[in-house]
Amino acid sequence: MDHFNYQAGILHAEDVSIADIAAEVGTPFYVYSTATLERHFKLIDEALSGMDHLVCYAMKAASNQAILRSLAKLGAGMDVVSAGEYARAKAAGVPGERIVFSGVGKTRDEMRLALTGGIRQFNVESEPEMLVLNEVATELGLRAPITIRVNPDVDAKTHAKIATGKSENKFGIPISRARDVYRLAGTLPGLDVIGIDVHIGSQLTQLEPFELAYQKVAELTQVLRADGHDIRRLDLGGGLGIPYARSNEAPPLPSDYGAMVKRVLGGLGCEIEIEPGRLIAGNAGILVSSVIYVKEGEDRKFLIVDAAMNDLIRPAMYDAHHDIVPVVEPAVAAEQEPYDVVGPVCESGDTFAKGRNLVSQSEGDMVAFRSAGAYGAVMSSEYNTRPLIPEVLVNGDQFAVIRPRPTFDEMINRDTIPSWL
Ligand code: LLP
Repeated sequence: MDHFNYQAGILHAEDVSIADIAAEVGTPFYVYSTATLERHFKLIDEALSGMDHLVCYAMKAASNQAILRSLAKLGAGMDVVSAGEYARAKAAGVPGERIVFSGVGKTRDEMRLALTGGIRQFNVESEPEMLVLNEVATELGLRAPITIRVNPDVDAKTHAKIATGKSENKFGIPISRARDVYRLAGTLPGLDVIGIDVHIGSQLTQLEPFELAYQKVAELTQVLRADGHDIRRLDLGGGLGIPYARSNEAPPLPSDYGAMVKRVLGGLGCEIEIEPGRLIAGNAGILVSSVIYVKEGEDRKFLIVDAAMNDLIRPAMYDAHHDIVPVVEPAVAAEQEPYDVVGPVCESGDTFAKGRNLVSQSEGDMVAFRSAGAYGAVMSSEYNTRPLIPEVLVNGDQFAVIRPRPTFDEMINRDTIPSWL
């Protein structure tokens, strides 16, 4: 459920008309709903109630500070994967003890930044990383709290580019080697081994792969405890999928996920941490775009819109489906026709949808790409020297621009010309 609905014939974000926002900021733009962000955070937080837990929002999904602050206010922690994300979370007011550092390639500088600024834990993904973290922490006279990310060799049954839990993926250490790696970790004075981490992929639409992975984590917890490790925290990663198309079968409910976590891991007495990104932000944002031209092809109509693959890369990159809806509510009996919805960028991959049925569109009409809140704005680029598009946050009947559209000068003047030119 989200808060993007028609009111008086116009698509609204909560109680704000999309047409009003467009009149002020111009298209294309992203708009997020605070109520939806809050609702999704609370749903997953409540799903784990009764267990000691922390929901660490995977801020890679949508990292505007206004979004981070909206979630942090509710008690969310953050899952970060770079020094930039760490600094952004801090800037948004998230305390270090609620920030988890994930990622396969943390550098010494990133480790130093997080150790000195405060960190809840590092999720370590390899032995070389573990040795370096030990060195950096020891140099600083600190002990780094760590979990080790295990790769459970479970098929997440999702798109290959976002599956991470099979042995051929670059993530984590093979679970079969976990005892050895934990033994080594236990000997390193700069590390405090506190738990286990697992994350098997993104946009999972079934509970079964999670359950298989978590069962392996439950067994490993017992084994490592018997080996003398004080395993007290389990980071279960993110990955719970969202419905992208209204017609699709529904992914698992957060409450069913929570019940499964309790059943499989509840008896271990560990603190539970999860890192959802898409679940919280995905359906809390839409991308609004205007029709530039309707072009008649030989056997199809192209709807050329002012958003492009540089603004929302998911269709080009993952063949992702995003529902497209007109901003002006169509009449109930309005006829639809198929369009190839494309952007102005000079490559055929700049296609949002093929043969998508929409009510008849004309120049200047506006459409919204739904479910664009996660991995939308954060994955955008200035390809074709197209400025990054604005982000807007709605809260009830108010809205604010939370990232303005840069001017051409701002964009162009970042280049510097060497003295010999
Ligand atoms: N934790 C870790 C360690 C991750 O690598 C990820 C996502 C998450 C949590 C959050 O996963 P989520 O709950 O959002 O599924 N750009 C792709 C998705 C990449 C996901 C990368 N890792 C897309 O647009 O589908």
